[in-house]
Amino acid sequence: MASSNDIKALKNEIRKLKARIKELEKTEIELKNTERELSKNEKKFRDLVELLPQTVYEMDLNGNFKFTNKYGIQSFGYTQEDLNKGVDFLQLFIPSERKRVRENIIRIFNNEEINGNEYTCLRKDGSTFQALFYSNPIIQNNKAVGLRGVVIDITERKKVERDLKESRDQLRSLASHLQSVREEERLIMAREIHDELGQALTALKMDLIWMQKRLNPEQKEQIGKVRSMTDLVDSTIQTVRRISTELRPGLIDDLGLQAAMEWYGGEFQNRTGIICTLDLDDTDHHLEQDRVIAVFRIFQEALTNVARHAHASAVHVSMRFTSELLTMEIKDNGIGITDEQIYSSKSLGLVGLRERVNPWGGKVIISGVHNIGTTVKVRLPVQDGKP
Ligand SMILES: Nc1ncnc2c1ncn2[C@@H]1O[C@H](COP(=O)(O)OP(=O)(O)O)[C@@H](O)[C@H]1O
Ligand SMILES: [Mg+2]
Repeated sequence: MASSNDIKALKNEIRKLKARIKELEKTEIELKNTERELSKNEKKFRDLVELLPQTVYEMDLNGNFKFTNKYGIQSFGYTQEDLNKGVDFLQLFIPSERKRVRENIIRIFNNEEINGNEYTCLRKDGSTFQALFYSNPIIQNNKAVGLRGVVIDITERKKVERDLKESRDQLRSLASHLQSVREEERLIMAREIHDELGQALTALKMDLIWMQKRLNPEQKEQIGKVRSMTDLVDSTIQTVRRISTELRPGLIDDLGLQAAMEWYGGEFQNRTGIICTLDLDDTDHHLEQDRVIAVFRIFQEALTNVARHAHASAVHVSMRFTSELLTMEIKDNGIGITDEQIYSSKSLGLVGLRERVNPWGGKVIISGVHNIGTTVKVRLPVQDGKP
């Protein structure tokens, strides 16, 4: 027979159990809600992943795919059935890449930062493409159970890069070809002008002297005419000389770079009124003629710019040689070139300046400070194969 105490205890127990059941029911509802919420979230992410125009994948530790979005399946040329049957991760790379892929996966599991690996990938049909892989370990209960990542197809980017480089190289060689053609033409023209015109004018002058000698002192009018003709011929001879020297300073070929620069600097100062000082290292360098011409033309173009744009009262030119490098600096005290002008693709003179030394790995650096002036610095390797 149960005592009233026992019954009381039993009732108490039942009440507790009922409360517990209620609690459990509440938890169950909460769990269901969370589950629904989770699957909603998962669907949201799945939908997003399916929309992505890049490959997203998950694989287990054996290299079997657990998930791949549609784009990924298509871009590697497989079907969902292929995937269900099983596709080995390494099959997606050309054989010569597989060792590196394996090594990098191990490094990813060791938490080394090696993201953004570029590989050549292999489609089912045997064609290939370039791609970047970004991957992370999938961790469950503190253990890595697989790999999850994104693959970005960079074929198009690579192609654009290659095309760009190709056309830039082509432009470069075209530019340098044009330069040498131009120099050749200038040389021929300078010679022709100097030899043909120069000789004709000299002959003319000698004839005039001959005539002058045979005129009577009374023939004042004729004497005056011959004299003014002689003056005109003289100044024309000067002009012809100037033009032919502008085209191709003969001094470069005869006396070398420094002498030609000294001469040109003097002419520049006379013509423009801008004080031009030169400090030229007269080491006997052994620059080949093409490089000498390039340096001289940069010097010429830089001085022309000073005269045209700088509003300067003075320009200083210095040149130094080491056994490896020629450095030249042309520094004016004018208004100063701006960064926009330096980097504008419309500054064709400056583009030409830079291209001049490009064939030998040289550099031209232009800089300006407002109302302080502009500096053009040139670095040109003296011989091939040296920096
Ligand atoms: N020494 C300089 N001082 C100030 N501005 C300069 C100097 N050299 C060049 N510039 C500026 O840079 C521009 C581009 O020069 P450049 O390519 O030689 O073209 P261009 O001489 O035919 O105008 C010039 O138009 C000028 O505005
Ligand atoms: Mg110019």
